[in-house]
Amino acid sequence: IPVEPFDLVIFGGTGDLARRKILPGLYRRFVSGQMPPEARVIGAARSEFDDAGYRNEVRDALVEFIAKDKLDDDRVAAFLDRLHYVAIDATGEAGWSELADLMRENVVRAFYFSVAPSLFGALAERLHMHRIADADSRIVVEKPFGRDLASARQLNQTLAEHFEETQIYRIDHYLGKETVQNLMAVRFGNVLFEPLWNAQYVDHIQITVAETVGVGGRGGYYDKSGAMRDMVQNHLMQLLCLIAMEPPSRFDPDAVRDEKLKVIRALEPVESRDIVRGQYQRGSNSASYLEDVEDEQSRTESFIAMKLHVSNWRWAGTPFYVRTGKRLRARQSEIAVVFKDAPHSIFGEEAGRHRNILTIRLQPNEGMTLGVTIKEPGPGGMRLIDVPLDMTFADALGPDNDDVTDAYERLVMDVIRGNQTLFMRGDEVEAAWAWTDPIIEGWQMRDMRPKPYEPGTAGPEESAMLLHRENRRWRAIRD
Ligand code: BG6
Repeated sequence: IPVEPFDLVIFGGTGDLARRKILPGLYRRFVSGQMPPEARVIGAARSEFDDAGYRNEVRDALVEFIAKDKLDDDRVAAFLDRLHYVAIDATGEAGWSELADLMRENVVRAFYFSVAPSLFGALAERLHMHRIADADSRIVVEKPFGRDLASARQLNQTLAEHFEETQIYRIDHYLGKETVQNLMAVRFGNVLFEPLWNAQYVDHIQITVAETVGVGGRGGYYDKSGAMRDMVQNHLMQLLCLIAMEPPSRFDPDAVRDEKLKVIRALEPVESRDIVRGQYQRGSNSASYLEDVEDEQSRTESFIAMKLHVSNWRWAGTPFYVRTGKRLRARQSEIAVVFKDAPHSIFGEEAGRHRNILTIRLQPNEGMTLGVTIKEPGPGGMRLIDVPLDMTFADALGPDNDDVTDAYERLVMDVIRGNQTLFMRGDEVEAAWAWTDPIIEGWQMRDMRPKPYEPGTAGPEESAMLLHRENRRWRAIRD
């Protein structure tokens, strides 16, 4: 779908997210010819730069975050030509009339609020006061979108004072991941899976987002959030919604988001025996969580595993096990749909031995595998083995397509196209907090301490127990 000419203003244009994700993403879109000739990017931040100075900064960021073989001097120069800069004071008056003068008529205007949420209100107000934003403009905001229901409501209200819901793009970058979107294609583009996608055939579902990194460097932010606020309330919740939702009638923003909202509202409160929280310990060459956040008393979790229930007709009785953590054995994000046993084994196999498992790999090695049971080849009689029907996107799409589009660049282009399907609606975010709040309050009331776990493992022992006690097992996290 062609992209219209645009002016994209990045507030916080010199910040970490802009340097790491937004600008490299835009460069890649530029290289693949998706940025129309009249498109411009305007960095806005407090530092005093002129256009040339900002372009130098951005060049450094591209060199740091883009693979060498994808950088080409002429293209970089052509991309940098599209960049401008305005020094601006988000809460004062400096820079706003310069920005107003710079904006062009008859192009899409988008404003990326890559700044602390406490500045959203000031930015929104000034964009209106100076008539920089109009009824057609879009704004983009990032997590953390609040830290509980009350603060998320407050943020939604602040934005709503100046913008319609159809103008607000709340990014959850997991929704921009190639495989996450493929999840919808697989579910709703095939006849094969949907008839089995329910409690009658699915034994349970596992969602794992394991990371090897610790929180060093961003301990200040992280220690106030923990895995629940940082990952579960948003990324894991979104994955769960896409797995559990009913088929929307159309692939359009509100149809999809209505269905996701119903899933969040159907999530049951979680009992404390179904939650395991952990903190990583010191490793041979890595600091412990408590050292990373420089607070020996911290009770914030760097790991969480939970058993969840979606109480509706489709999923009654099928548990969803979710887990995420830092400093685990490998960087591995996947969803596994574990189907029930065949109703009767004509081969006399014991129950639970062979199961169809559909694994959807978000990273690394994006793709899907369906485990099926077949006869072991050879003359040894009817012996059954499980083999993978494997689809790795890089193989399936060929070598020219191995460069799976980064989540941010896809989402930024969706903003310009005006497509909100992969963005969270205000009511979704609030519903997610409404479910999260009582769980966190419960820990605080009981002053719960997370369980220590060794770095490089799959988290605390108790997490394995969560499944063992029901005769189930987590899928391995592998190097
Ligand atoms: C971010 C979290 O939203 O997602 C980080 O704040 C986390 O703590 C990151 O590391 C994971 O994203 P990805 O795309 O690397 O899986």
